[in-house]
Amino acid sequence: MSKTLGIGVLGCGNISAAYMRLAPIFRGIEMRACADLNLDAAKARAAEFGLRADTIGQLLAAEDIDVIVNLTVPAAHFDVSLQCLEAGKHVYSEKPFVLSLEEGQKLAEKAAAKGLRVGSAPDTFMGGAHQLARHLIDSGRLGKISSGTCFVQSPGMEMWHPNPDFFFQPGGGPILDLGPYYISNLVQLLGPVKRVTAMSMSAQAERTITSQPRYGEKIPVGTPTTIHAILQFHSGAQVTYCASWDVWQHGHAPMELYGAEGTLHVPDPNFFGGEVRMTQKAAFTSAGVAWDHPFARTNDGVNANYRAAGLADMALAITEGRAHRCSLEFSLHVVDVMTSILVAGETGQVLDLTTTCERPEALSPEAAQGLLA
Ligand SMILES: NC(=O)c1ccc[n+]([C@@H]2O[C@H](COP(=O)([O-])OP(=O)(O)OC[C@H]3O[C@@H](n4cnc5c(N)ncnc54)[C@H](O)[C@@H]3O)[C@@H](O)[C@H]2O)c1
Repeated sequence: MSKTLGIGVLGCGNISAAYMRLAPIFRGIEMRACADLNLDAAKARAAEFGLRADTIGQLLAAEDIDVIVNLTVPAAHFDVSLQCLEAGKHVYSEKPFVLSLEEGQKLAEKAAAKGLRVGSAPDTFMGGAHQLARHLIDSGRLGKISSGTCFVQSPGMEMWHPNPDFFFQPGGGPILDLGPYYISNLVQLLGPVKRVTAMSMSAQAERTITSQPRYGEKIPVGTPTTIHAILQFHSGAQVTYCASWDVWQHGHAPMELYGAEGTLHVPDPNFFGGEVRMTQKAAFTSAGVAWDHPFARTNDGVNANYRAAGLADMALAITEGRAHRCSLEFSLHVVDVMTSILVAGETGQVLDLTTTCERPEALSPEAAQGLLA
């Protein structure tokens, strides 16, 4: 029998609105309070969504809060998640989970000592499109997957974000910022990564902001902005992964996987939905399965947006005593892949990963329905 867990949000910036808006569609969680270094930001979100605005200390001590959602900036993720665990709360963090393996291992130790759960976004791999891709691979219809490609390339962030400085410093860059979506999906589809290598560079030593209010200001680049990596999976598959903020336009698909019996075109893992296409040998074919997955249904303009699905899954998993999908072990492996790619890019080495993980349990349409209120 599941019960409802009280949820508190720590970090009331841009993305907090999506969590607060979407949480009520899920079963087993109730958003109750929020806090931020900037109390006015917490008060504004609280008023918008009918929540209680707490100080950080009040939220950490609140008796009606079981899980804290860490929506602070990446550089604060580790400290904030550790604080939550020390306060006796389960914690679910936005991506990237942490910025180093060491940080993640410290959280793992603290969580184990306290008997608490830790989870991390992204949860887009739980989307209907990516679960269909998973179903097609697991059903064997594509045969053994031997290789694939993944492209996430754009001109950058300085044209839309008001303060884009952090994107171009260590801790930012296209691998740590967007990599969690792509690498998490590859790991859920293919299993853990065995080793990586990469080359990296920056096309520009400084970038010019073209968003307001700092239009025309130059900012330094302190982290690679173009990284070409190769990932070898324990399954034997090898995937080319190109991540760049130095590309105006390109014609590559976000993700393709090549199997002995056909090819799978996977839509952009930055989103929950999208069109999955497959071939049998060279010929395009329909997926041939009835797949009315709740997390593929458009609910947000033109997109399927089920952000907080990973949080809801963790909350239900706590009450049901089962593993949650956006797990610490899984997120830490993704961090290991990303940080190893960055080191390989600097040194030219081929690096064996020191972590591994189980693939998160597949989320069938019925299981997804079970997460909804
Ligand atoms: N904005 C998006 O579209 C988006 C999408 C997906 C994921 N994310 C991730 O969500 C996280 C937050 O992103 P955002 O865009 O909402 O950032 P933001 O800068 O808009 O908001 C971050 C908030 O956290 C607060 N904060 C910072 N350090 C804190 C601390 N130590 N304790 C308490 N509060 C603190 C800030 O005051 C701010 O209100 C990031 O990890 C980002 O990668 C953002």
